[in-house]
Amino acid sequence: MANKLRLEGKVAVITGAASGIGEATARLFVEHGARVVIADIQDELGFQVVASIGTDKACYRHCDVTDEKQVEETVAYAVEYYGALDIMFSNAGTLGAPGSILGMDMKVFDRTMTVNARGSALAVKHAARVMVAKKVRGSIICTASIEAILAGEAPLTYVASKHAILGVVKAAARELGQHGIRVNCVSPYGIATPMVCKMYGCDAAPLEASISGYANLKGVTLNTKHIAEAALFLASDESVYVSAHNLAVDGGLSSIMKLH
Ligand SMILES: NC(=O)c1ccc[n+]([C@@H]2O[C@H](COP(=O)([O-])OP(=O)(O)OC[C@H]3O[C@@H](n4cnc5c(N)ncnc54)[C@H](O)[C@@H]3O)[C@@H](O)[C@H]2O)c1
Repeated sequence: MANKLRLEGKVAVITGAASGIGEATARLFVEHGARVVIADIQDELGFQVVASIGTDKACYRHCDVTDEKQVEETVAYAVEYYGALDIMFSNAGTLGAPGSILGMDMKVFDRTMTVNARGSALAVKHAARVMVAKKVRGSIICTASIEAILAGEAPLTYVASKHAILGVVKAAARELGQHGIRVNCVSPYGIATPMVCKMYGCDAAPLEASISGYANLKGVTLNTKHIAEAALFLASDESVYVSAHNLAVDGGLSSIMKLH
């Protein structure tokens, strides 16, 4: 398997690919023969990622997933630039803001739902429209979270929005199966990416140590490449009969209740 290109000739759009999980996935997809549209709102970072991957294999597109027109245009750009769309990895996300439900700011709730849940629905919608029209048996993947399975430490708005993504994925998989299009989720446990470091106001190292402390599976520190590997599986033909699935990459934590 190591030498086999698992996405040879495929074209992918990855939202939130200027950083963290999306960036790692873009690199891995390209290593496996795909061409990738890096879609994000951090333009400078996005262009840096493209430059380091190689402009013959990746390109950057400004895409705010809260804006339907931008999502639609990003998908159209992939088709125009690379001639197809085989994979959509809807990965852009925001954590919202911590705080009690008793004082919850509904603007933060709306914003978090708009980026995470609505943004995923838009990515699924516009990728599916192109795949159906072009009769492509594509793979659509959304980044949910362990917080889509249980309420861990994340803010309520984040938990709610990530649960909503599971609904989007299941309902879309139900409808798109007739076209041969698969729709799945990948659900990571914690990784000290910029999004998480910013929320907790600390550097990656102490955060990583804290996350590892709560982990079920010891001896491995979860990183962005591990999530990229899961996305690669879901994007490739190795998962050809897997749809409406939520692939938890959490070392078993979401299935376990430890009492001590
Ligand atoms: N890091 C974790 O612990 C963890 C765990 C579970 C799930 N996730 C999910 O993984 C995904 C990626 O996050 P990450 O941890 O790699 O963080 P990150 O901060 O490294 O990357 C998130 C990216 O999303 C982009 N983004 C944010 N809002 C956007 C918008 N409106 N339109 C387009 N792009 C936007 C950011 O610019 C950034 O590049 C998110 O959906 C997040 O919820 C992360």
